[in-house]
Amino acid sequence: MKFFIDTASLKDIQEAQDLGVLDGVTTNPSLMAKEGIGGEENVKNHYKAICEIVDGDVSAEVISTDFEGIVREGEELVKLDDQIVVKVPMIKDGIKAIKYFSERGIRTNCTLVFSAGQALLAAKAGATYVSPFIGRLDDISTDGLQLIQDIRDIYDNYGYTTEILAASVRHPMHILECAKIGADVMTGPLSAILALLKHPLTDNGLAQFLADHAKVNG
Ligand code: E4P
Repeated sequence: MKFFIDTASLKDIQEAQDLGVLDGVTTNPSLMAKEGIGGEENVKNHYKAICEIVDGDVSAEVISTDFEGIVREGEELVKLDDQIVVKVPMIKDGIKAIKYFSERGIRTNCTLVFSAGQALLAAKAGATYVSPFIGRLDDISTDGLQLIQDIRDIYDNYGYTTEILAASVRHPMHILECAKIGADVMTGPLSAILALLKHPLTDNGLAQFLADHAKVNG
């Protein structure tokens, strides 16, 4: 399972990269705004800075919602670095643009996916990644993980190569459950990745080992 970090924070991206388990980065306009990154040039420079930190795919989201605008923005974004994947919203013109990009070898991440039908459309259009938002579904009392399972079943039935990128991951159990189902990728905050490290028996065991070692070694 690939691990992407869902942030525009260079500090968090660097920390995840230093851990040695990072496969890529996803961002969105809200995450960019949270870091105070605005203005076309600043945004582009920020994506370049992210690409310098990580080796893997970096999803850069378009702002346009019409076909021509999405294509124009996407073609500009991919010029920034080979690692850039154009993140396109699940709307009618978005699907048309994903089809356009896939026919030209430009990789895409279809975002804001909340149903299996949307995921099926994204795969048919040739999306590289599909991003079902499991946390936001859980927030409205709908089973986000069931959506990952449904998409897995549909894609496996027909051999779609679109990768399931479980998004809106909020905690370590989301990551584990997605791994059990067979999501190809998960994207979440640094806190969810670091939480996988934690177990009280590990902490207690290590403390005991070090204490016993100190007894005979000073
Ligand atoms: C996906 O690519 C989105 O950036 C993200 O996962 C949304 O997560 P949120 O629901 O925590 O905002």
